[in-house]
Amino acid sequence: MSKLVALVLLSLAAAQFPPAVPHLTSFNSSFTFTPEQVSSLEIDANLTITLQNIIRFENTQLAFGGPHHDAFYTPPPLNTTTPPPPGTLLSLQAPTDYSAYTIPPLTSLSRLLYTTTTYNGTIIPTSAFLLLPYLPRPSPPNSKSAGKIPLVLWTHGTSGFFPSATPSSHRGLWYETSAVYPLVEAGYAVFAPDYAGLGVGFDWDGNRIRHQYHAAPAQVGDVLYGLLAVREAFPGLLSEEFVVVGHSQGGGVAWAVAEALADEKGKGKEKWEGVKGGYRGTVAVSPTTDAFNGDFAPETFIAPTVGQAVATVFPGFTQDKWLTELGVNRWGVVEAVEGGIAVVQRLFFGQEGVLKKGWNETWEAKAFRKLMTVGGKKFAGPLLIVQGDEDVYVPYEGTRIAVEKTWEVDGKKGDLEFYVAEGVGHVPALHAGQVYWLKWIGERFDGKGVRKGGFRTDVKGLLPKEWYQKFKYAFPLWTALPEFQYETAAAL
Ligand SMILES: *[C@@H]1O[C@H](CO)[C@@H](O)[C@H](O)[C@H]1NC(C)=O
Ligand SMILES: *[C@@H]1O[C@H](CO)[C@@H](O)[C@H](O)[C@H]1NC(C)=O
Ligand SMILES: *[C@@H]1O[C@H](CO)[C@@H](O)[C@H](O)[C@H]1NC(C)=O
Ligand SMILES: *[C@@H]1O[C@H](CO)[C@@H](O)[C@H](O)[C@H]1NC(C)=O
Ligand SMILES: *[C@@H]1O[C@H](CO)[C@@H](O)[C@H](O)[C@H]1NC(C)=O
Repeated sequence: MSKLVALVLLSLAAAQFPPAVPHLTSFNSSFTFTPEQVSSLEIDANLTITLQNIIRFENTQLAFGGPHHDAFYTPPPLNTTTPPPPGTLLSLQAPTDYSAYTIPPLTSLSRLLYTTTTYNGTIIPTSAFLLLPYLPRPSPPNSKSAGKIPLVLWTHGTSGFFPSATPSSHRGLWYETSAVYPLVEAGYAVFAPDYAGLGVGFDWDGNRIRHQYHAAPAQVGDVLYGLLAVREAFPGLLSEEFVVVGHSQGGGVAWAVAEALADEKGKGKEKWEGVKGGYRGTVAVSPTTDAFNGDFAPETFIAPTVGQAVATVFPGFTQDKWLTELGVNRWGVVEAVEGGIAVVQRLFFGQEGVLKKGWNETWEAKAFRKLMTVGGKKFAGPLLIVQGDEDVYVPYEGTRIAVEKTWEVDGKKGDLEFYVAEGVGHVPALHAGQVYWLKWIGERFDGKGVRKGGFRTDVKGLLPKEWYQKFKYAFPLWTALPEFQYETAAAL
């Protein structure tokens, strides 16, 4: 651009500066509970106001008003008597109107619907997003991926339990600067399944689709069927090779993908034959492994959130087997208003009187625990486990046990590396390990070998602890409306 043209453009831009308006946090939502809901919750006036504020905030984070207002989440009608096989692309929105999101400049967002299965094999529709970089991270010139965008499958941590809690309609795609933005800015295509039950709320017969929370094999299907669908959606664009990266619930899912790809005799074998060839490894950060172990996960959180979907695996289960009347009533309201994780925390976390004693001794609890536990099994490597030693949601000790059990299974010969960051909490583990895991992913695409033999890497920050900001104290405020553009330099 010539200097003159640039000056003209600059003065044109200056002439069009919109008026600046204070950006109030009054939110694009006036949600209030009904009096009946308040009495079912058995909460005081202050907590009522608190929860309403949280829900108003959550609703405001939803691009296009979220799944209940956004036609994208309604699957196209079936033209056949049975749904197409899992992994079939149902619809593609490419690109999505990115002005509703906080994604970095020169990145591109698309969303797709495809078929997956429930834990028990019923074919259902689900959603995902794909974030694409301006230019790909270069692959070695002679590799199959040369000229293509190297593909990372991102499996997110808990966002919630209902359709509204879907990362693909969250303005920051739920993990924004903690994972998805650094990945796309490093030149990777980031394919991110929402997980069935989040986003698309109903199947073609109008049956409610539940998020089978912590039923890792179900989410493995969402990831790998999604891989088939995104390849169909963007033929020739994405590398055949892929790396799986996940955090928290999604760290457990990522690890479970590695286990499914090593499954020589189970149902995984024939299912994933078509995708195995491109697999290059997995990074699981702060992963959930055995969430039913009360020593390492708060049971007041696990019982209601897992329990809401147990009937989809074990028919006949009702939540009152695990929850008291107060617990059941509270969950009923949470479900009616689709409260997210912050709402569930306030109503259940460490609360007296919501759980039935002995809930974890019921046969459903024991059976569900068995099918969902990750770790201590064969896996397709290489596998990098990243963990902070001050994580209160997924404690270090639980992850250490899962890692050591897994090392035992393969006699410490395999390629599982355990990376432990000192003084680091749950989500910050992604940040503490970022330099390391980004390099690790790059090496997988470059075809480098990994260290074998059960490696453990311990790190601590270079500076004294108190020099570091420990958690995140801000969120990216969406500013696409002209009257808020003065708030973001990148709008220029
Ligand atoms: C409710 O909040 C007000 C104002 O913050 C406070 O003065 C009051 O003690 C609170 N009441 C209860 C029951 O917590
Ligand atoms: C506000 O929410 C409504 C639906 O609840 C949605 O249609 C609209 O796009 C939202 N507006 C903004 C500015 O986010
Ligand atoms: C059914 O056919 C219509 C019209 O051709 C098409 O738009 C829709 O995507 C099809 N549905 C599926 C599930 O393929
Ligand atoms: C679903 O699978 C589980 C575990 O494999 C089994 O126990 C249960 O009976 C199945 N449920 C249905 C509805 O088929
Ligand atoms: C169930 O929880 C109790 C109390 O938290 C604990 O003592 C017991 O070992 C747990 N049972 C199982 C099967 O985990």
